[in-house]
Amino acid sequence: MFDFSGKVAVVTGAASGIGRATTELFLAGGASVVGGDIDAEALAALKAELDPDGARLEVQAYDAASSASADALIALAMDRCGALDHLALCAGVYRQHPLKEMTDANWRQTISVNLDGAFYLIRAAAQVMAPGSSIVTLASVAAHKGGTYGFAHYGASKGGILALTRSAAQDLAPDVRVNCVSPGLIETPMTVDLVQRLGEDIRKQILLGRYGKPSEIASVVGFLCSDAASFVNGEVIIASGGAYMG
Ligand SMILES: NC(=O)c1ccc[n+]([C@@H]2O[C@H](COP(=O)([O-])OP(=O)(O)OC[C@H]3O[C@@H](n4cnc5c(N)ncnc54)[C@H](O)[C@@H]3O)[C@@H](O)[C@H]2O)c1
Repeated sequence: MFDFSGKVAVVTGAASGIGRATTELFLAGGASVVGGDIDAEALAALKAELDPDGARLEVQAYDAASSASADALIALAMDRCGALDHLALCAGVYRQHPLKEMTDANWRQTISVNLDGAFYLIRAAAQVMAPGSSIVTLASVAAHKGGTYGFAHYGASKGGILALTRSAAQDLAPDVRVNCVSPGLIETPMTVDLVQRLGEDIRKQILLGRYGKPSEIASVVGFLCSDAASFVNGEVIIASGGAYMG
């Protein structure tokens, strides 16, 4: 779909859902990929399935809530591949805690993984990315209209991602483009419970009449990283099948 021959991409949340689809898209386009995820077992399975010879996919256990872990992931990319052209931030958590009962720890966990994690990696990547490189963050429709019941921390983390994306675009210009994708409901392990509880109600609000597929978000990430988006910077693309129009 996109030509990423000779490019190097770091993808977080690579073991599942949108991150996995993004990893597949970069590999299909000819890039070398370093995939990070907290689920080391799933990462090993991913590597065995997508790149058994170890030629173009490196994986490393990575905790988005840790700045040291972010630094180590970027160091691995530079060590193995000698460059970093694209960074796709797909790691995230989506856990329900109604506001009145939400503990400090509940709040901090979601903010740490979803928002702090993006800052740590963007900061680390910015030290080494060359002119012409690009970063894509993952927000959510929740960034635009607030989290649904029990997801105040998630909504706040994703609103922060939008502002961080635009701020980083300003700080890193003109060398690095920084853009964001805000998905609507995409069928991944993250949304299994949601679909079971509220799926039919949500589906009715999607103009296309169906949920999205991980590949339909990966393709937007790919577009934003590609030369086709060479003049797109500090932007957010909402991909929700028309459920939300920004
Ligand atoms: N699926 C949707 O409908 C949807 C909608 C809007 C936004 N998003 C966003 O898209 C991104 C990808 O979501 P997904 O649907 O693919 O979810 P997913 O659950 O399928 O994948 C998320 C991945 O992040 C990893 N992860 C969790 N905590 C981590 C940590 N501390 N450090 C490193 N990795 C960690 C998980 O192991 C998993 O592999 C997330 O940021 C999510 O908020 C998803």
